[in-house]
Amino acid sequence: MNMDEKLHFADLTDRLLDWYARAARDLPWRIGPAERAQGVTADPYRVWLAEIMLQQTTVPHATRYYLDFTARWPSIDELAAARDEEVMAAWAGLGYYARARNLLKCARDVQARGGWPDTIDGLRELPGIGPYTAGAIAALAFGRQAAAVDGNVDRVFARLMALRGDWKAEKARLKGVVEGLVPADRPAEFAEALMDLGATVCTPKAPDCRLCPLSSLCAAYAEGAPERYPIKPKKTPKPHRTGHVYVRFGAGGTVLTERRPERGLLGGMMGLPTSAWSGELGVPEFPCEANWREVGEVRHVFTHFSLTLKVWRTDAGKTRGNTPCTQAAESMPSVFVKALKLAQT
Ligand code: ADE
Repeated sequence: MNMDEKLHFADLTDRLLDWYARAARDLPWRIGPAERAQGVTADPYRVWLAEIMLQQTTVPHATRYYLDFTARWPSIDELAAARDEEVMAAWAGLGYYARARNLLKCARDVQARGGWPDTIDGLRELPGIGPYTAGAIAALAFGRQAAAVDGNVDRVFARLMALRGDWKAEKARLKGVVEGLVPADRPAEFAEALMDLGATVCTPKAPDCRLCPLSSLCAAYAEGAPERYPIKPKKTPKPHRTGHVYVRFGAGGTVLTERRPERGLLGGMMGLPTSAWSGELGVPEFPCEANWREVGEVRHVFTHFSLTLKVWRTDAGKTRGNTPCTQAAESMPSVFVKALKLAQT
């Protein structure tokens, strides 16, 4: 951070922390400002679990999973000892399944080394922990003077500083500024306050600047149209893939499922049988001879492509080896749940 920035943001931290003391969200993984003031500290296991779940997932969606995981596996030792399939099934619906595999690897690594590392560098050595997550855990669980800069914080500072240059370079610059503002005595609250400001006030489309404790410091607010920031390069459209998915019901409310190969997309997850997914729709190759009926299409968007699957169903299936539909719906990634639901209607 240069001298001008230092002067300009001199009372940002105080304003932000004052606002947070009043406006903090009550979240199940959070030690709130009142508890922190009494000296309550966070459990690194819970901080880490929440951060991994909240990558690319909203707070309302992640909350149910967080409560389920912490009820079933209240400590890292219990999670480390869990069966892989159970954890993968419990993760179903959160997406990004490589994260669930890394979650287990990380739990087992931490157990093997006898506890959590408490520095950014130590945390970065663990599977699935990148710069943001390491910063968040270091600040929230270990009181380190570390910044947790994610897309929300990028947006807040892109507006405060009215950043209009090359987005990659601007992100590096704002990260330096945020790091320079973290207070040594309250790094956790600083990080949490920025998360809350980004989520509730400085929102992507409709920032509510009347509620913002930082509006008088905000260059984008002064310009009159903060929602124009951040200014990012245009995204190239995602490629589209297509394929078939086969829903074979059996007796007693069951459906044919299969475990997907460990490597590759949705690896290790339970799923419905499908064709390969490619640019062109081939002819269906059904998993067994039966009276297959086409029942429609489902769409799903993955990180690197969008997908349309033609859904086929039959009721001719055997029961042996099938999974109860209710269990399948709870254990499969969303794209398969969509296909199952469509076939059930
Ligand atoms: N987004 C990422 N981490 C978060 C957290 N700990 N609380 C609320 N929102 C978040």
